[in-house]
Amino acid sequence: MVKNVYYSKIADIYDQTRWLTEPIAEDVADFILTLVKANSETTFLEPGIGTGLNVLPLVRRGYSVTGIDVSQEMLNQFRQKLHSIPPNLKLIHGDASQLPFVDASFDVVLTVHMLHAVSNLGIFLDEIDRILKPAGFYLNAQWITPPARLEFEQHFKTILSKYQEPQSSQRPHRVINEINIEGYLRNKGYQCNYLIAKEWEVTNQIQELLSFYRSRAYGLCWLASDEAFHLAIEEFEALCHDHYGPLEVELSSQARFEIWAYTAS
Ligand SMILES: C[S@@+](CC[C@H](N)C(=O)[O-])C[C@H]1O[C@@H](n2cnc3c(N)ncnc32)[C@H](O)[C@@H]1O
Repeated sequence: MVKNVYYSKIADIYDQTRWLTEPIAEDVADFILTLVKANSETTFLEPGIGTGLNVLPLVRRGYSVTGIDVSQEMLNQFRQKLHSIPPNLKLIHGDASQLPFVDASFDVVLTVHMLHAVSNLGIFLDEIDRILKPAGFYLNAQWITPPARLEFEQHFKTILSKYQEPQSSQRPHRVINEINIEGYLRNKGYQCNYLIAKEWEVTNQIQELLSFYRSRAYGLCWLASDEAFHLAIEEFEALCHDHYGPLEVELSSQARFEIWAYTAS
């Protein structure tokens, strides 16, 4: 299953299967605005913007935000969060591997959970370097999976691996994307700072998490064949009953919004 196509298939449930809520995104926006010393002229680009979870607060506060995404369905989910598209938001449907902007176009480029999807990471980082203004910021971020959900995922992975050929767990573009981002950008003259923008508690019932897996909301489910997936999910449901007890049981643990902030030195 091609990953980019799959985001279109799960666009309508994407937000509920993740854990960055709107109030948390507001706090993260405060952090980012302070970090980049934003003023009313500061311009932002998010390649792989998806449903706009990360930048919606910036748009609402009037900052100039441009987003590119290969999935029209993901962009439509973002559009639905706004009564109409405000003049400070530009959404482009396309492949972010080639950024259609002139040199020195943006003050801040933000990527969140998307680098694994570009076809050539080196070229993509060159492009970011090209379109950033002097003294601009490249923020590569992730919201780490809360440990309790990671453990839940591990149970599923273990079961799924029994039904899969070993090579089918390989992710697309894996080899080409194995470059050291920090080293690569340091060679281009960037300094890197690792920052934690926000930590917060995430709570889900087992039955809710199970329903996300049934909907094949995560990459590990997409890469499995239909047959392997159906066998695995059946066994996983049985394991959930045995291991966790009633499916109304809640799992709680901490999530974290991490940023690797790159600035030209
Ligand atoms: C895991 S989602 C992350 C969305 C958003 N950044 C977030 O943090 O919620 C990855 C997004 O990248 C998009 N994407 C994947 N490959 C892309 C590409 N080559 N160009 C543009 N968008 C891409 C997908 O359609 C999807 O919306």
